[in-house]
Amino acid sequence: MDFIDSNIVKYAEDHTSEEPSYLYQLNRYTHSNLLKPRMLSGHLQGRFLALMGQLIKPDYILDIGTYTGYSALCLAEGLTANGHLYTIDRNDEAIAVAQDFFAKANLSNKITALHGNAIELIEQLNTKVPYWNIVWMDAEKADYINYYNLCIDKMASGGLIMADNVLWSGKIIDQNELDTDKDTILLNEFNSMVQNDPRVENILLPIRDGIMMIRKL
Ligand SMILES: C[S@@+](CC[C@H](N)C(=O)[O-])C[C@H]1O[C@@H](n2cnc3c(N)ncnc32)[C@H](O)[C@@H]1O
Repeated sequence: MDFIDSNIVKYAEDHTSEEPSYLYQLNRYTHSNLLKPRMLSGHLQGRFLALMGQLIKPDYILDIGTYTGYSALCLAEGLTANGHLYTIDRNDEAIAVAQDFFAKANLSNKITALHGNAIELIEQLNTKVPYWNIVWMDAEKADYINYYNLCIDKMASGGLIMADNVLWSGKIIDQNELDTDKDTILLNEFNSMVQNDPRVENILLPIRDGIMMIRKL
């Protein structure tokens, strides 16, 4: 869900840098060939992720929830010369598409796509990667607390965790959903946990479906 009027979103897109052509093609391919193309980050959110990557200049990025690779490709724009991005998904069809587009973008050597359950793969990656500069959380909403707890001690000082969909199409302020819907309950717990964590500073941006920005102190 977009919380901002669609005409305003259109104006914002018209005044945002263009996406590289491989991302435009990936967006079109995903909409023509895959289920739930709405999951793809898209132009505006993608340029936001790319800007965050370019500002932080990360050595190590963790992208939780590859889908067809749009967010991975945006974040990878900011990687340092020897930097590396790891992306995780349990959907092998989506990962195959992502890998094709990583090659089209000449970024296959800087991106590793891993197939499997996010929690198990994060645990494995944490044993081989020294630290994370950026973590983008966009897989199972009910697992956000687990992803956060797995990553927070591996975050470099000044590192950035970003969590997508934290407004959950507005359900996050609907008392009926908060009483009955598991994902809404756990996303609300996640937002409260971050808000009360003295190790971080945070801002909840109402971009698209809501992004929680969390900077490790
Ligand atoms: C919203 S999409 C990701 C979109 C992508 N980050 C982008 O910006 O274009 C969420 C993805 O998370 C994956 N996913 C959900 N739960 C998962 C889990 N427990 N382990 C691994 N992948 C998971 C789904 O298969 C799906 O492709």
